[in-house]
Amino acid sequence: MITEYRKINGTGEDEKTIEMASEIIRAGGLVAIPTETVYGLAGSALLEESAGKIYAAKGRPSDNPLIVHIAYPEDAARIAYPDETYYRLAGKFMPGPLTIILKKKSIIPDAVTGGLDSVAIRCPSNPVAHRLIEVSGHPIAAPSANRSGIPSPTCAEHVKADMDGLIDMIIDGGPCDIGVESTVVKIDGGHCTILRPGAVTLEMLSEVCESVSVAGAVVEPSLAEKVKPESPGMKYKHYSPKAKVVLVDAGEKEFCDYVRENKEGRCGVIVPDECADMFEGFTVLSTGRRGDASEYSRRLFAILRRADDEQLDTVYAPLPPKEGCYLAVYNRIIRAAGGNIVKLK
Ligand code: TXA
Ligand code: MG
Repeated sequence: MITEYRKINGTGEDEKTIEMASEIIRAGGLVAIPTETVYGLAGSALLEESAGKIYAAKGRPSDNPLIVHIAYPEDAARIAYPDETYYRLAGKFMPGPLTIILKKKSIIPDAVTGGLDSVAIRCPSNPVAHRLIEVSGHPIAAPSANRSGIPSPTCAEHVKADMDGLIDMIIDGGPCDIGVESTVVKIDGGHCTILRPGAVTLEMLSEVCESVSVAGAVVEPSLAEKVKPESPGMKYKHYSPKAKVVLVDAGEKEFCDYVRENKEGRCGVIVPDECADMFEGFTVLSTGRRGDASEYSRRLFAILRRADDEQLDTVYAPLPPKEGCYLAVYNRIIRAAGGNIVKLK
């Protein structure tokens, strides 16, 4: 298959690009689209065949359900049973990087939700994603547009590397603002459980919900394999570059000493700008300014992909904190590390 590649450039051509993509969606094809979080692999959420194509292009197990994207928060009622807590959360965080799980209506084929009777709903703020949903008239199923198991794409070049020749079209809308996938929550009355952390943080959700908790598997990947996971996606290997990722739980000086002592082969370090010159002989993969969790989120997946482009054998990173936006980084990077955590504290 030849993949059509279109760039959003702020001219009248953009609307033609959207119309062309809408045609593809309505005909059951696939288009990679920018969103504010990561690039998504979009297909109609109303067509069973589109879900099948998405799973095939990603190489993803078909019991791992897809997120359904809508143009406006009210559109949730077409595909699910929104309750009062949904509207309260939507009023504050939609459009934006929040996904809410609701009981699904039968208009959504079981193939989209991996056989579950619930559906994950998100209303993206990215104008290209928004417009495509609106013009196509279909709610859109879109997982991250990466091949299953490797880091999510945060720019069109990442998508091209993974999906060229496998899908109908790629729309290049520039780099993603947020860089990690949406926060996924389950609601139960006024209580909210975070199944996957993102840019809408625990602290932010607590301002709207009576109580908020974090699912155990968010910070402890091994739990996702042992217990029946609430979010099936959490049990699969994720975000893994070919390079070995090693997390070191230590202060700055101890981290520096440890990686210098353990350097073997081509090594990289994931550290803030301020530390860059402490690591001679290492490839420095910068997270931005020290303490800037949003910038670290924005760069994380590109950093993991660069580790492979540079053919690094091992990449060391300090174990990130778990507060605020860092929880999303923590959740992704412990999966990328696959259990390689060195405790020096
Ligand atoms: O930011 C995002 O959410 C991106 C962009 C493209 O919108 N999409 C994304 O989709 O990350 P995906 O498919 O890579 O991740 C969806 C996550 C998985 O962990 C999946 O298990 C969970 O959401 N999920 C989807 N439907 C669910 C459901 N009905 N119940 C529980 N978890 C669900
Ligand atoms: Mg994904």
